[in-house]
Amino acid sequence: MDQYCVMGNPVGHSKSPWIHARFAALTGQPVEYGRRLIPFDGFAAALQAFAAEGGKGCNVTVPFKFEAATLVSRRSARAALAGACNVLRFDGGDLTGDNTDGIGLVHDLQGNAGMALAGRDLLLVGAGGAAAGVLGPLLDTRPRRVVVANRTVDKARALVAGHATLATANDVALESCSLTDVTGCFDVVVNATASSLAGDAVPVPATVLKPGALACDMMYGPAADGFLDWARSHGAIGRDGLGMLVEQAAEAFWVWRGVRPPAAQVLAELRAELAA
Ligand code: ATR
Repeated sequence: MDQYCVMGNPVGHSKSPWIHARFAALTGQPVEYGRRLIPFDGFAAALQAFAAEGGKGCNVTVPFKFEAATLVSRRSARAALAGACNVLRFDGGDLTGDNTDGIGLVHDLQGNAGMALAGRDLLLVGAGGAAAGVLGPLLDTRPRRVVVANRTVDKARALVAGHATLATANDVALESCSLTDVTGCFDVVVNATASSLAGDAVPVPATVLKPGALACDMMYGPAADGFLDWARSHGAIGRDGLGMLVEQAAEAFWVWRGVRPPAAQVLAELRAELAA
C-alpha cells in the first residue's frame, strides 16, 4: 500500500481520511491514508519523517499551508499564485507543492451545483488564506467581474494586485473594496471569511445577492449554517463547503495517482454519512 496522510493542527475533525478511503476503494488504487497531528513548530520535521518512512504524499491543512509553500522544491503555478500548498508529493528527494482548493471550489460550483461561471459576476468575501487559495482558479473560469471585499481593505487590495495579470489575461474586471462599499449585485457570492467562527453575522448586506444567486460558504457543518440561512432567506441558493472539500481531495488524488475518483458519488455518500 502507498502511504498518504493529512497533516494539521487540529486534524481530528478532518474528513480527508474518510474521503480518500472511499476514493481508493472505488478506484482500486493501493492507497492507505491516515491523519497526523503536528506540533505547531514541528511541520518541517514531520514532513522529513514521513518521507523517510516512504510516504508518497500528504495533504496540508490549518495552519501549515503557508509554511508548506516555503519548504517545497517545486510549486505548481496555482500554488505559487495562492502562496500556499494543500497538496505535497514526495518525488524521490524532491518535494512538489500544489494547491487544489481553488479548482475544488470551481468543480463544485460548476459541476455539482451547475453554475457555469463564465461571464458571471462574482463576489469573494474575505482576503485571508482561504480566499487567496481560490481566486486564481475562479479567474480562470473567465467571469465578467470579480470583487474581493474584506474587513481589512488593504488585504483585499494586495490580493487583487497579486492577481491583476491573470485577471487581464482572462478579460475579467477585478476589483477590491471594504465590506461596506460593495456595489452592485452578484450571480455568485463566496464566503471565505472566518466571521461565523467569531460568532458574527454575515459580513455583507443581502443586496449583494441577485435573485436566485448561488451563495457558497467555504465552511461546512454548523459553521456554515448562519450563512446558508441568510442566503436562503433572501432568495439565494445556499451551498456549503462540503463539495469543495471532496473536489479538492479528488484533484489531490489525481495529482498523486493520475486517476480521477468519482467525486460526486463520494460527496453524496459523505452527505448521507454526516446526516445519519
Ligand atoms: P483563512 O485561512 O481561514 O482565510 P485568515 O487568513 O485568518 O484565515 O483569514 C480570515 C478572513 O476572515 C479574513 O478575510 C478576515 O478579515 P480581516 O482580513 O479583516 O482580518 C475575515 N474575518 C475574520 N473574522 C471576521 C469578522 N468577524 N467579520 C468579517 N470578516 C472576518
